[in-house]
Amino acid sequence: MSPFRFLHLLLILLFSYASANTYHSLLRMVPDDRVFSGSAGFRGAADGIFCDSWRLSVETNNAGHWRIIPENCLGMVEEYMNGDRYSSDSDVVGADSLSFAMTVQIEGDGKDIWIFDIDETLLSNLPYYVVHGYGSEVFNETSFDEWVDLAKAPALPTSLWLYEELLGLGFQIVLLTGRSEFQRSATEKNLLFAGYHSWERLILRQTADIGKSAVVYKSERRAELEAQGFRIHGNSGDQWSDLLGSPMTKRSFKLPNPMYCVE
Ligand SMILES: *[C@@H]1O[C@H](CO)[C@@H](O)[C@H](O)[C@H]1NC(C)=O
Repeated sequence: MSPFRFLHLLLILLFSYASANTYHSLLRMVPDDRVFSGSAGFRGAADGIFCDSWRLSVETNNAGHWRIIPENCLGMVEEYMNGDRYSSDSDVVGADSLSFAMTVQIEGDGKDIWIFDIDETLLSNLPYYVVHGYGSEVFNETSFDEWVDLAKAPALPTSLWLYEELLGLGFQIVLLTGRSEFQRSATEKNLLFAGYHSWERLILRQTADIGKSAVVYKSERRAELEAQGFRIHGNSGDQWSDLLGSPMTKRSFKLPNPMYCVE
């Protein structure tokens, strides 16, 4: 046998071993649950690699809608949210956002806008999630609303930096949030407490929006803004439902959030 032929066979052998291994680990990951809930339902794959892959799936929207984080990934989410990775991921999104914003031609008629979501975009609810299991508990609207009323959520530092830069470039800022109208004053108070100012508009859910998905509600508001002559250049949000739908902005910027998913 020629050395090349031998090497070829060895490579085939190694490759089939590797694929069989992949196959087995996939089988191991299929959950027992009768209703298959996607990657969030995986049991028994507690290693850091699985949780990193799950997070990637969430950030790329492959995971679609999910309710709570995989139970085995609580440690990863806790470490991610409190460690350097979350701030570094946010910094890179911020830098890419500004790099795009600097290419935008500002007309100076007050119609060039940038949209920001609020929760986990401008404001960090991490102090709330620290005591509520980092997304491992089913969302409790009552206790979350109590937290919102305190108006003590800190700014996400990169977002505050980007916000100031965009104001400096001449953008008008529109805040488009899934929070409800009854939370307007607590939200304004919190935004000012965190260092935000000079927004053009703060849009909250009205009674007529109850029951609408975030994609529908936010798309409708963007359509209204466009109908009023605003040019929406950028949109920053931690949820895909902040960014998808029609009209879509010229560029969308997805901030990291492995703790919860808003449909
Ligand atoms: C939700 O939060 C409220 C207020 O803190 C609490 O009274 C209630 O028991 C919680 N509900 C669940 C299901 O945990």
